[in-house]
Amino acid sequence: MSDRYLAFANSTAGRRLVKTLGLPAPLPLERWRGGRTRPIDGALLIGGEGALNEAVVPFAHKLTDALYAAHEGQHALPRWTAEHGPRLKALLFDASGLTRFEQLIELRDFFQPTFKGLANCPRVVLLGRAPESLKDPIAASVQRSLEGFSRSLGKEIRRGGGVQLIYVGKGAEDQLEGALRFFLSPKSAYVSGQVVRLGRCSEQVKDWTRPLAGKQALVTGASRGIGAAIAETLARDGAEVVLLDVPAAKDALDALAARLGGRGVALDICAEDAPAQLVAALADGVEIVVHNAGITRDKTLAKMSEGFWNAVIDVNLKAPQLLTQALLDAGTLQDNGRVVLIASISGIAGNLGQSNYATSKAGVIGLAQAFAPVLGKRGISINAVAPGFIETRMTAGIPFTLREAGRRMNSMGQGGLPQDVAEAVAWLAQPGSGALSGQVLRVCGQSLLGA
Ligand SMILES: NC(=O)c1ccc[n+]([C@@H]2O[C@H](COP(=O)([O-])OP(=O)(O)OC[C@H]3O[C@@H](n4cnc5c(N)ncnc54)[C@H](O)[C@@H]3O)[C@@H](O)[C@H]2O)c1
Repeated sequence: MSDRYLAFANSTAGRRLVKTLGLPAPLPLERWRGGRTRPIDGALLIGGEGALNEAVVPFAHKLTDALYAAHEGQHALPRWTAEHGPRLKALLFDASGLTRFEQLIELRDFFQPTFKGLANCPRVVLLGRAPESLKDPIAASVQRSLEGFSRSLGKEIRRGGGVQLIYVGKGAEDQLEGALRFFLSPKSAYVSGQVVRLGRCSEQVKDWTRPLAGKQALVTGASRGIGAAIAETLARDGAEVVLLDVPAAKDALDALAARLGGRGVALDICAEDAPAQLVAALADGVEIVVHNAGITRDKTLAKMSEGFWNAVIDVNLKAPQLLTQALLDAGTLQDNGRVVLIASISGIAGNLGQSNYATSKAGVIGLAQAFAPVLGKRGISINAVAPGFIETRMTAGIPFTLREAGRRMNSMGQGGLPQDVAEAVAWLAQPGSGALSGQVLRVCGQSLLGA
């Protein structure tokens, strides 16, 4: 589904009219293209006095070839100034050293001048320590305050930018490279206002050009839309892909599987024997499982039929649980495996006419949270990705006014693309992403819903 307003607002005539009328002017987002190697195509400025920068500086030159520091002599890097520095594509501020309220002014002091020097589609990351990990209540409160600051920056940054906060646990510093390769690059184009926690993980990515090499990945609902994009992206990153969809979608499924060098499995995930069939289809084991298949059957609760209710709960919630359990019980899901569930911001904010869907997607988030400690014993992570408005056949079916509202009610003023969800899944599927489990990553352009 094309976004005509976005195209119009960026045309020569449209730009003038949009400005004259004071209408919102969303920028087309920059996205990752195949063949690219540097995460940041432009200058990265590193600021802040915390200890986490010490872990970042040794690999920062792999992220970009234009590195700057905020102060003279810091990290032996050239100093960036608003007057003489280049436009900034990315900002990294280590706020982990902030432990007193009076120090919070350092946020203003760093970001005020740098925000004036940003290039288009800039990426910003703040690093901190999780409040719950700190004994000093004042330090914990200061670190918690970073959430409000980073989310506000996400709303102020405009020009297609995104701002995130990463709480880094003790011993998780060695997983910062993977997280920053995602959050400081266009791979996170439609992600903003997110807070993630990194913990320890014994696994490491060996080759950043093919981080999923040697892994077998299952993607459900993979014949079209977001699932197809996930399969493409996992294959791009080196995984061997197994694509699953309903028998009616077999032709499209097989065509995509052939193009990606993978194989298709035509199976209804709600069939009684689906768990057994899936285990049989994955006889060589599986390291990455993406539960993407999903349906909507929208009606207000007053008009909701039992059939609509059950269909949505069965496909979106029951099937992922039953299939995951079967893959675990059969030993098909390997140690240090990665499970990603596709939820929705409807499951966070609720949505009119979607009580069944929102229930199922909140349940999916619950699955990630409840399974995480259990699976963690085998090094397996399980996380949920919650997309906002993504341009697919599912959202093309929404009535016009609701569709326009869904598209625009976020900090980026536009819908996301299936690729945006796929990039988040691909990051969570990486070996080092065992650093996160039981978490929800929203890919919603910082939607106002459920914020
Ligand atoms: N499009 C959005 O804006 C959006 C927003 C939030 C969440 N999501 C979620 O993302 C996922 C993908 O959505 P999409 O927009 O690509 O939808 P889509 O309808 O284009 O694709 C869903 C796929 O799942 C498959 N599927 C449905 N029931 C199945 C079953 N019983 N067994 C096997 N396969 C089945 C379908 O055949 C289809 O190929 C869904 O879980 C959806 O809820 C989408």
